[in-house]
Amino acid sequence: MEHKGFTLWFTGLACSGKSVLADAVAEDLKERDMKVERLDGDIVRKSLTRDLGFSDDDRRMNIERVTFVSKLLTRNGVAVLASFISPFNDIRRYSREEIGSYLLVYVKCSLQECEKRDVKGMYAKARAGEIKKFTGIDSPFEEPDTADIIVETDKQTVEESKKIIINSLKKMGYLPN
Ligand code: ADX
Repeated sequence: MEHKGFTLWFTGLACSGKSVLADAVAEDLKERDMKVERLDGDIVRKSLTRDLGFSDDDRRMNIERVTFVSKLLTRNGVAVLASFISPFNDIRRYSREEIGSYLLVYVKCSLQECEKRDVKGMYAKARAGEIKKFTGIDSPFEEPDTADIIVETDKQTVEESKKIIINSLKKMGYLPN
């Protein structure tokens, strides 16, 4: 049976664990013989959207382009795992409408915990004013108002969060039980 394509869209603060979790789900789906593609902010911003910065408009443009790619892949039966801060509800809504088979995963993690992790030292730089318009510091992150799945990475292990996502995919008919 051909698998139906879908996009799992991971939204959350920097260092919330979007990429690690999306990678873990990607591996799981590959083992189920799905065609899988990963789109990640840190990588896409070096290629497809390297001309963009972090103003509100540039973030929207970033998500618009990624949405275009996700839509093409999704309709060709691919499981797309997109991990972007994607901080605004209006642009998340746009992605959902465009892609159709779209599930929003809110990777919830307190700002305090994200700042503690500070994998690339960017929060420290943002606090020092060396990076401007950093999400959570001097640029907003709107809590998603239509998340299909919520995982809490400051309370769950990667494995636990992954299971929640896989079970949701089964419940919503994107994966066989
Ligand atoms: S989004 O807001 O447009 O969705 P995206 O997920 O593509 O953001 O990129 C976020 C990544 O860019 C972060 O992981 C971080 O490494 C880097 N980055 C650089 N400047 C900023 C900034 N001002 N705000 C947030 N992330 C930034």
